Amino acid sequence: MDQAQQLRNIIKNSNKPQRPLARIITVTSGKGGVGKSNVSINLAVQFRKMGKRVIILDADFGLANIEIMFGTVPKHNLCDLIYQGKNIKDIITWGPEGVGFISGGSGISGMYNLSRDYLVYIIVNLAELDAIADIIIIDTGAGISSAVMEFLVASGEIILVTTPEPTSITDSYSLLKALNQSPRFSRENTKVKVVSNRVSSSDEGQQLFNKLNAVVARYLKLPLSYMGAIPQDQYLARSVMQQSPVSLQYPNAKSVKAFESIANQLMNPGSQEEVKQRGMAAFFSHIITGRKLSSRETAQGQSITSEN
Ligand SMILES: Nc1ncnc2c1ncn2[C@@H]1O[C@H](COP(=O)(O)OP(=O)(O)O)[C@@H](O)[C@H]1O
Ligand SMILES: [Mg+2]
Repeated sequence: MDQAQQLRNIIKNSNKPQRPLARIITVTSGKGGVGKSNVSINLAVQFRKMGKRVIILDADFGLANIEIMFGTVPKHNLCDLIYQGKNIKDIITWGPEGVGFISGGSGISGMYNLSRDYLVYIIVNLAELDAIADIIIIDTGAGISSAVMEFLVASGEIILVTTPEPTSITDSYSLLKALNQSPRFSRENTKVKVVSNRVSSSDEGQQLFNKLNAVVARYLKLPLSYMGAIPQDQYLARSVMQQSPVSLQYPNAKSVKAFESIANQLMNPGSQEEVKQRGMAAFFSHIITGRKLSSRETAQGQSITSEN
């Protein structure tokens, strides 16, 4: 069986209910430095405490955030899978609390220029993550770059991190506007969930959401749901300096209570049911077919995937 056939089978099987598929949560923001990596890493720790297997994919190219915050140096990154023939299991680094992470390196942005054989190899490998993880958290870069958009349209579930700074709110709106205009975005298949970070009270967090929700409902008609607020917390800032997630370093800190509550909220049955679990193979096929294969491969009448 060649790799393309292998890929078709993986995607076909991933539609069958008996095959466990990872839940993919993409964390993003309109503006940089608003707390995406902290949200990714601390939700990961909270999900581990709930007994889930979690892998973070650090897709913020260039800025190796997750590894710095974990105080762990990964031996390999996605480039080694792509160019050195490493297996997906070889490039996962296991951090504290058994959270796995994969450093994207420049691998993801370079992916669009790869040949079809390479892409198939990558997708077949990434599909194995569905067997290794219950939840995959993708920590993206900020803003409206095309690479971030590709991740967002392929995601069933987006966590948008925003802060009370006026620029953060307007940048969040701009991001949602760009997402909404993207031809491949489907509001049925992608749920957008908002987290307010660095607030001085839970009221402020709720008001921040209400403000964003009001303009988004009015001009974009896009439903948003609110996952809660994380307070401004000096222990969180300190834990970043100490290269350890605040959830582990200062378990009684007020931000940790907030991460616990947001993780619970994401795990409640209502929040889980509305999300269509697609798994990694379908997720990456969506990205890659949209960017590259749609024109070239379909012209040859051999689309590598059957879109679900
Ligand atoms: N709730 C918070 N309380 C205090 N400081 C915070 C909080 N959230 C973020 N920060 C500060 O902002 C910095 C950037 O956070 P980070 O998660 O790296 O953002 P991003 O990934 O969006 O660029 C952190 O290093 C920390 O100092
Ligand atoms: Mg970051």
